[in-house]
Amino acid sequence: MGSGFSARTVVLGVTGGIAAYKAVELCRRLVEAGAHVAPVMTEDATRFVGEVTLSALASEPVRKSLWDEPEPIPHTGLGQRADVVVVAPATARFIGAYAQGICDDLLTATVLATRAPVVLCPAMHSEMWEHPAVRHNLALLVRRGVVVVPPAEGHLAGGDSGVGRLAETDVILSAVGGVLRRRVVGAVGAAGVCASSRLGGRKVVVSAGGTREPIDPVRFITNRSSGKQGHALADEAARRGARVVLVTTTDRSVLPDVQVVRVGSAAEMETAVVEQAADADVVIMAAAVADFRPKSPAVVKLSKADGVPDLVLEPTPDILVELGRRRRPGQVLVGFAAQTHDVTERARAKLTAKGVDLMVANDVSAPLVGFDHDTNAVVILGAGGIRREVGLRSKEAVAEAVLDTVEEILDRDSRYTESEDRG
Ligand code: CTP
Repeated sequence: MGSGFSARTVVLGVTGGIAAYKAVELCRRLVEAGAHVAPVMTEDATRFVGEVTLSALASEPVRKSLWDEPEPIPHTGLGQRADVVVVAPATARFIGAYAQGICDDLLTATVLATRAPVVLCPAMHSEMWEHPAVRHNLALLVRRGVVVVPPAEGHLAGGDSGVGRLAETDVILSAVGGVLRRRVVGAVGAAGVCASSRLGGRKVVVSAGGTREPIDPVRFITNRSSGKQGHALADEAARRGARVVLVTTTDRSVLPDVQVVRVGSAAEMETAVVEQAADADVVIMAAAVADFRPKSPAVVKLSKADGVPDLVLEPTPDILVELGRRRRPGQVLVGFAAQTHDVTERARAKLTAKGVDLMVANDVSAPLVGFDHDTNAVVILGAGGIRREVGLRSKEAVAEAVLDTVEEILDRDSRYTESEDRG
């Protein structure tokens, strides 16, 4: 990880939320990775964490004010020096001010004065995170190219729990590293949108989660899929400027710009995915679709008094095969293969049998891999000899690797089409 950060200037903004203490660790890790960290705190942030602590760990002292700094105009200086501006935690107030262009302190002035990409890591109580004002402001910022690392689920201040806690430091580092890497690869537009991303403006459909196959109105058959990998893929595609539709069985949080279609069974997922895929450029089947379902689900709740039900199962439709049949020219199809043995051979066989461009395979019997973990380790296999091993990483990092490979295919295909046109 170190190389991507070395000699890069990270302006680290810290706003006034309880998660401000975690910014200290983030600062330390960025410096350790070789970044030059220029910290900026809001007045409220200093109520949660000591200015001296952050100054001691960063590469230069904390700045707080537009007026008291040695430089006459600190915000433009910071904005121009930054390779990336990271705000962690970002409060609802800060997000609102930034979205509306209100610069009433050094940090809000800096994010408006910079042409560097901006990464926001919101942290707040679930009620605030879900408030339409916050959603609207974030959606505005994402449309302008701001990268948002969504909050995680877990314990919140005051003994509550839910969505809203600051994303894990590793997840933030991985997102910032991705932004810096793309900055090296291609030009970043004035709005911070990655101009080099092949996904910019394209429609990407992602499916996620395990399907639920009803036995009766209250019981169902499902599997251990959490939907985390699919949601990470949807978020990452949105960060790259794609128009993303996520067909999911879970109510896990997702970036505000992602259009969500909630489904339950394999049949519902098929209808939604096939409809959305009709004009999509990329379709990623990360969902764990049940292979079998009860043939005749009961219409009323089964009772113990009726005895043990005699469940007759039937196969579900294979959505990926159906997508292959209906595939429009140039569309990239990606499948996932969760295996417990002979991972590569089985995934290669599925790659051919299902006629997809990429198969992302993982060994779900390995520790910390796949189902319900925050981490994953995969091998990405593709037609034409593509083979990419991704060791144990966060699901966000795996999503980056998968989408990098999708972009390579889009790039290759477009060059092919362009040279055909010329020929
Ligand atoms: N898939 C699908 N529809 C199904 C089953 C699977 O679209 N009814 C998709 C999954 O979303 C995944 C890929 O196919 O992208 C591979 O899923 P997997 O369950 O590993 O493959 P199967 O064909 O069901 O093979 P197996 O016999 O190993 O279960």
